[in-house]
Amino acid sequence: MSSRLNLLAPEVRTNPYPVYAELRRNAPVSQVDPDGLWAIARYDDVIAVMKNPRLFSSEGIRRTYRPAWIPDYPLADSMLVLDPPCHTRLRSLVNRAFGAPVLTRLEPRIRELSRQIVARIPAGHPVDFVDAFSIRVPIATLGDLVGIPPSLHARLKHWAEVLTQFTSVGTNDTRQQELIRHTVVEAHRHFEQVLEERRREPRDDLVSDLLRARVDGEELTATDLMGFMFLLLIGGLETTVHLLSSCALKFQEDPELMARLRAEPALIPRFVEEMLRHSGPVHGLMRLTTDEVELSGVRIPQGARLLLLVASANRDEAWFPDPDRFDLERPGPQNLPFGYGVHFCLGSQLARMETRLALEALLARFARLTPGDSPSRWNISLVMRGPTLLPLVAHPP
Ligand code: HEM
Repeated sequence: MSSRLNLLAPEVRTNPYPVYAELRRNAPVSQVDPDGLWAIARYDDVIAVMKNPRLFSSEGIRRTYRPAWIPDYPLADSMLVLDPPCHTRLRSLVNRAFGAPVLTRLEPRIRELSRQIVARIPAGHPVDFVDAFSIRVPIATLGDLVGIPPSLHARLKHWAEVLTQFTSVGTNDTRQQELIRHTVVEAHRHFEQVLEERRREPRDDLVSDLLRARVDGEELTATDLMGFMFLLLIGGLETTVHLLSSCALKFQEDPELMARLRAEPALIPRFVEEMLRHSGPVHGLMRLTTDEVELSGVRIPQGARLLLLVASANRDEAWFPDPDRFDLERPGPQNLPFGYGVHFCLGSQLARMETRLALEALLARFARLTPGDSPSRWNISLVMRGPTLLPLVAHPP
């Protein structure tokens, strides 16, 4: 049996932060379980890795998304698992379609939608906040981005849940594999249909923009487009859902903070920034070394799989004094929760806007959140952390 630290052990996942602190202090670059991954715990090392995609490859982890039982998973064709120069070409094509006009178009819609979603949360009764609040705004936003109408949002949620689970933990269960294959085929068919419709009849939306995008006369191929749709499904949803749930939980834990934000809504963006640093949804990112390399004095062999502990870097005492303290006055914004370098999150401004608008709506209607009738449940993943069940009672003023 391995004596290595297991980052997936239930007691670690319950509260990984003391373990991250210990790693930063005593083993900032070390092999852990599962699978002997090399955990990178310090801010400076995490940044150094992300700055150097030649030595620390994203493409190298592509085969993780292409196990033998599902050889045609479109996420494996997405830019998330490409290195420059292929990544650069794709990113510039997509960038054009993902700029400020998308935010301007979406802001009034998300504001109104948030108001409607919050209006439907029953007051004074225990309700699962993940289901009643956190998931609703990102699902509707994503539906809008990838052209899925409200009648199919429940389907979209189902696809995202099945695929995120696979992307986070993999599976050896053949029934689970069958479900994932089926989900990929179903989502693929829907996206194909949306692409076809937009080709025939372009609209004022992201899918039509992606179909129009050209750099030096080059356009996105059918494979690029499908990979990007799946990437939005995985990257654009669970992240924002977890962030919103963590914000609601923070309100329950700190009623004074909630009251302060109600009194001064202009502080909400600062609150979101500190939430991203202190309890951000992304915990680990993967890279593969293309050569032997040294980090914090430790030699790592070629072909090693690295787990960049972004959530640990965000609490690195070398950068953030008293890092475990939630501090609204901390200078910000901090961008590391959204990555760094060539793969820096394409949706960071959208995620910030969605979170701000959803919280504005929540704070406008409710003055207090108290614990519900059962304990919360948390996901199990090295990549992402957040509640999957969050029973709370919402109280109007
Ligand atoms: C709080 C919410 C979010 C967080 C914390 C977050 C975080 C991240 C991080 C850390 C990366 C870098 C991955 C890497 O280096 O391997 C990333 C990439 C990405 N994110 Fe986000 N994300 C969020 C929301 C979103 C949303 C809402 C969208 C779009 C709808 C989005 C789209 C993307 C895309 C397309 C990439 C890949 C960029 C590339 O490979 O060049 N993200 N995100």
